[in-house]
Amino acid sequence: MTAVARRLAELRGEINYHNYRYYVLDDPLISDAEYDRLLRQLQKLEEAHPDLITPDSPTQRVGAAPLKEFGEVHHTLPMLSLGNAFDEGDVADFERRTKERLGVAEVVYVAEPKLDGLSLSLRYERGILARAATRGDGTTGEDITSNARTIKTIPLHLLGKGWPSVLEVRGEVVIRKKDFEQLNTDRLAQGDKAFANPRNAAAGSVRQLDPRVTASRSLSFFPWGLGDVSESVATTHYAQMAKLKQWGFRISEELRKVTGAPALLDYYADLGQRRDELPFEIDGVVYKVDNLDDQNALGFTARAPRWAIAHKFPAHEETTIVEQIIASVGRTGVITPVANLKPIEVAGVIVSRATLHNQDEVERKDVRKGDTVIVRRAGDVIPEVVGVIKEKRHKGARRWHMPSNCPVCGSEVQRLANEAAHRCIGGLYCSAQRMGAIQHFASRAAMDIEGVGEKRVKQLVQTELVKTVADIYFLKRDQLMSLERMGAKSADNLLSAIEKSKNTTFSRFLYALGIGQVGEVTAKQLARRFGELDLLMAASEDELQAIQDVGPVVAQSIAHFFQQRHNREVIQQLTAAGIHWPREHIPVITSEYSGKTFVLTGTLESMTRTEAKQAIEAKGAKVSGSISKKTDYVVAGVQAGSKLNTATELGVEVVDEAAFRAMIGCD
Ligand code: IVH
Repeated sequence: MTAVARRLAELRGEINYHNYRYYVLDDPLISDAEYDRLLRQLQKLEEAHPDLITPDSPTQRVGAAPLKEFGEVHHTLPMLSLGNAFDEGDVADFERRTKERLGVAEVVYVAEPKLDGLSLSLRYERGILARAATRGDGTTGEDITSNARTIKTIPLHLLGKGWPSVLEVRGEVVIRKKDFEQLNTDRLAQGDKAFANPRNAAAGSVRQLDPRVTASRSLSFFPWGLGDVSESVATTHYAQMAKLKQWGFRISEELRKVTGAPALLDYYADLGQRRDELPFEIDGVVYKVDNLDDQNALGFTARAPRWAIAHKFPAHEETTIVEQIIASVGRTGVITPVANLKPIEVAGVIVSRATLHNQDEVERKDVRKGDTVIVRRAGDVIPEVVGVIKEKRHKGARRWHMPSNCPVCGSEVQRLANEAAHRCIGGLYCSAQRMGAIQHFASRAAMDIEGVGEKRVKQLVQTELVKTVADIYFLKRDQLMSLERMGAKSADNLLSAIEKSKNTTFSRFLYALGIGQVGEVTAKQLARRFGELDLLMAASEDELQAIQDVGPVVAQSIAHFFQQRHNREVIQQLTAAGIHWPREHIPVITSEYSGKTFVLTGTLESMTRTEAKQAIEAKGAKVSGSISKKTDYVVAGVQAGSKLNTATELGVEVVDEAAFRAMIGCD
């Protein structure tokens, strides 16, 4: 071997290993920059010596030139399917049959997730990925080697040693739910059709004639077994999987050795409960007899092994009929098209309504009254219509259009520039928005009226004692005492809380009005810039845009709000009721965090979210609801959710509660 060839082999080995640490173990040893430097070194050296490029080189993951069509691959051992168990009885039957056939009293199984993706066969010859194929009809599949090379969790060269000279690894290609959503968002933005589910996205990405497209999708591969091998690898399935892990594959962390049907069912129940939290879509679990001699003794039926069974979760998707499409007005005035459905059970819950999100979505999916549609319900997420079965559409089915007037209050419906949503501009006048608006008005960061929570607001609105937020200030003691569960003492407490709230600040008052797009920070900026309500109400969109962070959308929303006669009337009543504030002087704050953006996630133990927000703003920094590359700090409390993963992925600094307290000067 020449010195160059040696250096190339060294670099490839090093990069492959770091790839494995990063993608398989989730435990990188070097920085991304360091990794890129190694890869560039390898690329340069290969450019100078193209004759020394090998197919297992990490540079070959980028995607080769497009193919005209896929070649055919004949599977040496057929790729079979799995039998299904749909309930506990089926699992008990499987366990009983297995024990009888093996003539034993107890069987050890491996229980694992049934990943919902596309099955692949990867053939390694002397440790190098020689060919990758789809399952196809089980006997003949498609040669998708160039595409498989672009998937980072598929080793191009097996790590470690001890692998047989021929090793066929079988497993599932999947896409993370998060990447699936992003992929669909990008596709929609480019005018492409969205994939219906993660499995279709994974399959569509692998079966691409242009490997560069596959390379651009974040796909992962998880082995679930072996096919053709030149020598045996281990004596149990579990040990085989452990070997594959050593050789560079990513193995699901959910694999468990389990004995007896009750334990299998526990596993099923546990994973079923965590199904929605898992990064990948799963459609059930698989139970496999662990001992390979026992597997051989049990053998196969024509279609499936006798030593394994898939225990399916209830389907996430069902088909039903759209009985009506209605425009539903939410608490903030956003009008959402909702499909009223012929009731159908989806994943154990009866679904009779599904969101269609907005006008664009209705148009894109082309959902019409009377259509047969696929409905999807995942976890606590609101059920949604995935797509229409166009073949079943009746003649004369008409397109749906957003109404031009609010179905609740008759006000104009508007769509602001750059927004997907339509809104009712009725604001405080619209009864659908009233409850939300009143609750917001009374909330702690707004007018801070103690005792006016969700239940109380509902009561006040339902009894029609309060129609607009101004009515709160004209409530009488005897009116309050006529309410259920309201004694003299509570009525007096409420009246004094209302009275107390009259002494407020300009920025709180502005925030309390619930103007679309105006959060606490914008309200403060408006208060500081205009100082007086009359001046703000008369401001033009241009004048409003002169304020930091106020763009055209926010400016339009503010100007619009004050143009509405209903809103002007309510404001007039509020000031007439005696709401007042001192001339506001909001100091311009400068600190080392001025201008920085914070995102809060999880629960903080020593303070509420509002307090944390105030503390951040007091440092001249901002709080945002979502993480992007522009986020400077993520404050992670207890049970921080997916935002934490996003932060890590984007390289945003994450601080815990103690560190955060120190930053805001609480310690
Ligand atoms: S074992 C002889 N294990 O499900 C076939 N399959 O419905 C042995 N699948 O074609 C398959 N996760 O594509 C097995 N943990 C898992 C799996 C799994 C997903 C897929 C696989 C198979 C299909 C059968």
